[in-house]
Amino acid sequence: MPYIRESIITTVDLVGKVHIAPIGIIAEADGWVIAPFRPSVTLDNLTAVPFAVASYTDDVRIFAGSLTGRRDWPLAPVEDCPVPRLEAALAHSVLKVETVSDDPVRPRHFCRVLGQGTHAPFTGFNRAKAAVLELAILVSRLHMLSREKIEAEIGYLTIAIEKTAGPEEREAWGWLMESVTKHLAGEEHGKPASS
Ligand SMILES: Cc1cc2nc3c(=O)[nH]c(=O)nc-3n(C[C@H](O)[C@H](O)[C@H](O)COP(=O)(O)O)c2cc1C
Repeated sequence: MPYIRESIITTVDLVGKVHIAPIGIIAEADGWVIAPFRPSVTLDNLTAVPFAVASYTDDVRIFAGSLTGRRDWPLAPVEDCPVPRLEAALAHSVLKVETVSDDPVRPRHFCRVLGQGTHAPFTGFNRAKAAVLELAILVSRLHMLSREKIEAEIGYLTIAIEKTAGPEEREAWGWLMESVTKHLAGEEHGKPASS
């Protein structure tokens, strides 16, 4: 399996409107592959303007928020790039789409790294941050998972939240758990599952 780096990807449309989405960028040769599912704003934007910025951040509220309708996170301009980065990025890479392997499900955009920047120190691992990231991935796949699998994963991840979370991780966890609760309630009432 390839190495995957969980990032916040910013892209822009033709009029410069910025979109942010959590995306796992895939290491390949000397660049990174962005593989957005169809349909998605990220895919439309990469097709219109073939640049992206990958922001590397330890603020897990941005991962949780972007999945739960809270996309208004502060941005900062990047020199010589049409796309901004997250203000909260510890570091970022400027990515230019060089080739696209089309696919009916998930076209792969191979990107060359045009530049990188570092903005703040990495201050160490935290289990609750990792747990929020895992729950964010689970929330993005709720429609594919059984209730048993969802409840088992959450049971395990809750241990790290209870033992090691600060206020930001608790807030992010709460946003994601609202989505899980809604999803499971919908299932109970026979509605189609949604993420
Ligand atoms: C950590 C993480 C990694 C993700 N990686 C991908 C990815 O590689 N491709 C993708 O299409 N969606 C990925 N998702 C889900 C997207 O963030 C989500 O579906 C998003 O809304 C993309 O659609 P949009 O561009 O229309 O906003 C990921 C979510 C999380 C939390």
